[in-house]
Amino acid sequence: MSVSLCSELENGELEQEEQELENSGLHFELSRRRFMQAAGVLSAGVAVGLPGMAAAQTAAATKAITLKVNGQSKALSLDTRTSLLDALRESLDLTGSKKGCDHGQCGACTVLVDGRRVNSCLTLAFAAEGAEITTIEGLAKNADPKDISELHPVQAAFLEHDGYQCGYCTPGQICSAVAAIEEQKRGALSIVSLHTGKSENPTMTDDEIRERMSGNICRCGAYPNIVAAVRAVAGASA
Ligand code: FES
Ligand code: FES
Repeated sequence: MSVSLCSELENGELEQEEQELENSGLHFELSRRRFMQAAGVLSAGVAVGLPGMAAAQTAAATKAITLKVNGQSKALSLDTRTSLLDALRESLDLTGSKKGCDHGQCGACTVLVDGRRVNSCLTLAFAAEGAEITTIEGLAKNADPKDISELHPVQAAFLEHDGYQCGYCTPGQICSAVAAIEEQKRGALSIVSLHTGKSENPTMTDDEIRERMSGNICRCGAYPNIVAAVRAVAGASA
């Protein structure tokens, strides 16, 4: 029915009809009726088509994937649009990585992909296939929370320096700090290093730490203690 209406529109019959109606003084009333008829037909067509479209889309979008997370291979079946964060939290029950903004603005979802920090909310799970993914759960050598000697040095430093209050941002802060320290060790420069005039071997000053950790927001404002924790591990003085 919508096809025949479109044909009618294409043939200019409607224009002709409207011209006649305008001449008769009934233009607005009947044009509106015709408009409502067309809208009704199109709406019905869309409503009938939607379930079919949704089913086809779902079937086409779900694929098998293997993610290597914290040293273990995990076989999953995911919608190709799934973010790495949702795959970790919803499919693998690794809820240490937090969803703060889901828009790449807070850093709460930071994980390591082949040693580099990424916002997992902005990374498609399929883009991380084949990579070594490390979450906060995979940093400690031993999962015994009573034995902090088994924690990753950055985790232990956050404990020692009270680098958190509510803790929501903390997994992302710690993953980010681990990568930031590695970046500094291998000589990667930040805008702060450039301002100091150094073109190699940047020192992890507090300004460097603040700059390199600036993608991780802490709503509790635990920044001074976070800086102290990172400084302690990086082996630098303020
Ligand atoms: S949840 Fe990913 S950056 Fe905020
Ligand atoms: S400790 Fe609460 S948001 Fe950072």
